[in-house]
Amino acid sequence: MAQTFQNASVLVTGGASGIGRAIAVAFASAGAQVAIADRQAEGGRAVAAQIEAGGGQALAITADVTNAGSVAEMVKTAAHAFGKLDVAVNNAGILGVPAPLHDADEELFDQVLNVNLRGLFLCMKYEIRHMLKQGGGRIVNVASLAGLVGFSGFAPYAASKHGALGLTKTAALEYAKSNIRVNAVCPSIIATPMTAGERIPPELVANYLKAHPMRRAGKPEEVASAALWLASDEASFVNGAALTVDGGAFAQ
Ligand code: NAI
Repeated sequence: MAQTFQNASVLVTGGASGIGRAIAVAFASAGAQVAIADRQAEGGRAVAAQIEAGGGQALAITADVTNAGSVAEMVKTAAHAFGKLDVAVNNAGILGVPAPLHDADEELFDQVLNVNLRGLFLCMKYEIRHMLKQGGGRIVNVASLAGLVGFSGFAPYAASKHGALGLTKTAALEYAKSNIRVNAVCPSIIATPMTAGERIPPELVANYLKAHPMRRAGKPEEVASAALWLASDEASFVNGAALTVDGGAFAQ
């Protein structure tokens, strides 16, 4: 059955690119009003324009998830624009630069943890405050397969994503009685700007995909459909889950 989010209000962080963009577009196609929050203002506006051109309702918000004031304002703006905040998808993230742990840059470690873990904590904190006031909500965090297993060459990233699952599970326990469900998706390699171009050596991706059960990268839309399901009433008893969207990689 197609998932419907008619009149639902959805916030997607990191919605200007890749997986976040696909999630924003998928929610809009399912009838939701979507706030696209990103530190890239222009990219966010382009996604909002794309949704509106297709007859949907969208709003671009410039926000930096590492800044508490910016996050509080982001949640307020999204909730005010649409009158409520039914679903929040916390997707903003960075990968860092590949290096074995003993060579990993200390500042880069802080940066990756700051966006992927502290940023996630701040988003959840302000979203949950709002959801408690309105009597419920659903949160989907975009973690990673690297939240469940190690990721050679990316120790800070793996640490941040393991932490993201810790936040997801703890919040699921704390707010289950408050009608707020909190879950995570754990994708393996997905074809987005994060895994293309100069950010990650192509031979690293190629090597990884050689050992992948499906011998291919996932599509952002394949992550989006899992995120929509977790946020839907069809997943009404699913809480604190770390759903792999990885073509079987975790089963190896
Ligand atoms: P991407 O680089 O295409 O998109 C990430 C978006 O997050 C960008 O639009 C960027 O501007 C935004 N962002 C980064 N820092 C931010 C900040 N401080 N405040 C607000 N926005 C910020 O990357 P992709 O691949 O779409 O990744 C999205 C999420 O999925 C990330 O959390 C990533 O760790 C996760 N993921 C990605 C996988 C992949 O293979 N592409 C695999 C598993 C997880």
